[in-house]
Amino acid sequence: MSDWKQNLHIEPPQGWLNDPNGLCFYSGKYHVYFQYAPDSASGGGRKCWGHMESPDLLSWEYTGIVMEPDIPEDRNGVYSGCAVVDEGKLHIFYTGNVKNPGDYDYINEGREANQIHVVTDDPRVLNGKNIILRNSDYPDYCSCHVRDPKVWIEDGVWKMVLGARTKDSKGLVLYYEGDGPENFKFVKTYEIPGFGYMWECPDLFFVEGSSFLGLSPQGLPHEDFKNQNVYSSGYFKLTDDKLSDFEEFDHGFDFYAPQTFEAPDGRRILIGWMGIGDIPYSNPTTELGWQHCLTLPRVLTLAPDGGICQNPIDEILNLRSSRTAYKAGQKTEITLPCDIMIRDEGFTRASFGGFEITVSDGAAVLKFDESRGWGSGRDIRRVKIGKFTDMRIILDTSSAEIYINGGRFVMSTRVYPDAAITYECDCASMIYTLSEKPMKLVAIGEALIDFIPDKTGCAFDQVTAFSPKLGGAPANVCGAFSRLTGKSAILTKLGKDPFGNKILKELGEAGIDTSNVVTTDEANTALAFVSLEEDGNRTFSFYRNPSADMLLKENEISDEMFDDIFALHFCSVSLGDFPMKDAHRAAIEKARAKGALISFDPNLRFPLWKSEEDLRAAVKEFIPKADILKLSDEEIAFITGKDDIDDAAAELFEQGVKLIVYTRGKDGAVLKTANASGQAAGVAVKAVDTTGAGDAYIGSLLWYLKSIGVTVKDLTELTEAELSEGAAFANKYCAVTITKPGAIPSYPSLQEFKNIYK
Ligand code: FRU
Repeated sequence: MSDWKQNLHIEPPQGWLNDPNGLCFYSGKYHVYFQYAPDSASGGGRKCWGHMESPDLLSWEYTGIVMEPDIPEDRNGVYSGCAVVDEGKLHIFYTGNVKNPGDYDYINEGREANQIHVVTDDPRVLNGKNIILRNSDYPDYCSCHVRDPKVWIEDGVWKMVLGARTKDSKGLVLYYEGDGPENFKFVKTYEIPGFGYMWECPDLFFVEGSSFLGLSPQGLPHEDFKNQNVYSSGYFKLTDDKLSDFEEFDHGFDFYAPQTFEAPDGRRILIGWMGIGDIPYSNPTTELGWQHCLTLPRVLTLAPDGGICQNPIDEILNLRSSRTAYKAGQKTEITLPCDIMIRDEGFTRASFGGFEITVSDGAAVLKFDESRGWGSGRDIRRVKIGKFTDMRIILDTSSAEIYINGGRFVMSTRVYPDAAITYECDCASMIYTLSEKPMKLVAIGEALIDFIPDKTGCAFDQVTAFSPKLGGAPANVCGAFSRLTGKSAILTKLGKDPFGNKILKELGEAGIDTSNVVTTDEANTALAFVSLEEDGNRTFSFYRNPSADMLLKENEISDEMFDDIFALHFCSVSLGDFPMKDAHRAAIEKARAKGALISFDPNLRFPLWKSEEDLRAAVKEFIPKADILKLSDEEIAFITGKDDIDDAAAELFEQGVKLIVYTRGKDGAVLKTANASGQAAGVAVKAVDTTGAGDAYIGSLLWYLKSIGVTVKDLTELTEAELSEGAAFANKYCAVTITKPGAIPSYPSLQEFKNIYK
């Protein structure tokens, strides 16, 4: 039935994959190398490095084999290693494995382990292998097993850990330092008496100021709740350079040899091999020509007890394409891949057909029903978790990753269902279906240059200089959505002039898809001069008679823009009587046909209209087309004729609006549907510049809705708690943006935002 191919996980195109190697972010992309035996699904033959790259940690492109055994020093395998970025170069370190033919034990003789360095500026081409350490260089108590270099740079010092086995079969880590990538000197060891015979894949890393030594030890005794697998993988906390108790990273059947790296936004991200060597169970993909995958990238944070929490990267939230509120006790068929959230402390059991997860007496148990065979020989795994608080389960075609208690405990397993998965749980759960690609926010309307005055708190005619900044509400909304890890695209037209070029470049740099930005020499790019009063509020003067954006025609919008669309957003600035208005009508229709949410922020700009009546009429024409309507306290009376949100709401709901977003500046916001209402108080900050604040509000709110898998039909089902949470999220996001000048440049990334409100 299934070919077991995963949707979300890195897999080899064919053959065998094991450890993740060389994780890094380099020249604008994430890179994952991996241990790769392309010729055999059981791992035999050439052991190479395969390479995958990704712009967003979600979609991965396989670029091929980048290193294979082709020098005497790595002739039996290009083994595991790491990557370090320094001064624009990518440095790769790995172990060259050599097994000399003969009658050897291959532990104390017959084997070579060479540490090798490669430097490149093209992550797809790794040439020029240089041996930096050989067996004769290691301390003389080491056996021939010394491997898996992990290198990092701290205060200009190059540091390296190597996994090793001593001649009398004790596992340990060798620690080196050097003033460059090729002259490491042995400094000391990390070891614990009686803790396995070999330590593989060490990784010394930092999480929120604490240091950890991660490793994959072999030879630990198996216990009921610990080290249940053939080989283990976990971490020691390093306190004053001493190793604390060992804690496993993962308590499922399939996890080994993880590696961490630091993302550009400061996150410490871990990826593991969702597999282990020498397992007593199997993977039916082997018969189909390949085996194994990597785990999802997981963000590491510090748990209150000092341990590590692992959670899937937030980018995954962009894949939540629909949701089902599951009620306790139902039986429901699940569409893969999916993401299930359980937040009920009373949870005791969730069953998936061929396997189940139960919690009792402070322990979580993952158990396969052996008669169904979904585990291919996997049986039971247990972990002590203390008091249960919550659980998140990500199911892909042939894997389950179970995050318990905020990610403090994780269980990962391969699973091979031969029929649809039926879910049955004793608690309410939210089931999100995950799309393969992130779904995007598309905004239509103006992208322009805001001329920001060099001094604030004065009237327009007293400003002596203005600086040009990217602006336009639809562009800003895309900017906020993209900064929060979302995908966005803008539909607009720009003049073929230097300001148009500037906008195009900066939209691209903000991560906004500009493939449907049309350019023209019929008109110039729109300009808006702004003056800033003492309180951060603004007056505008527009240069738009006409401007290029007004001329976008309906036939200039590609149908592709409506593929994978989550929401279409628009404002009123582009609803005057020019071609752009028809383009709006057409785009709304196409987006609607694709099931997208339609979001409208009138964002009134009186100086652009001949009369107030014209503006009001345009807004009124478009309100019935919108699912989400944003109104500010300054706009409500003009648009609805009512001052009070409750009075205005009934009429708006009747016209088809499903969610009203009512913003009241520093007094916070109210989110209202016909069934529920939520609110959040304002966040007190000193306003520096409110340019683009409302756009940040609606952009971040749309991202929040995306992150909880909301589609049109769910809007009226949003709970009071969700509406309040959404209002609070957007309030906080917006508050950060007004403490800094400009629009998009003032928008924090999701990680910056999380750091601010920690
Ligand atoms: C861990 C490991 C590493 C080694 C690599 C070889 O799974 O044994 O120690 O470098 O795999 O593929």
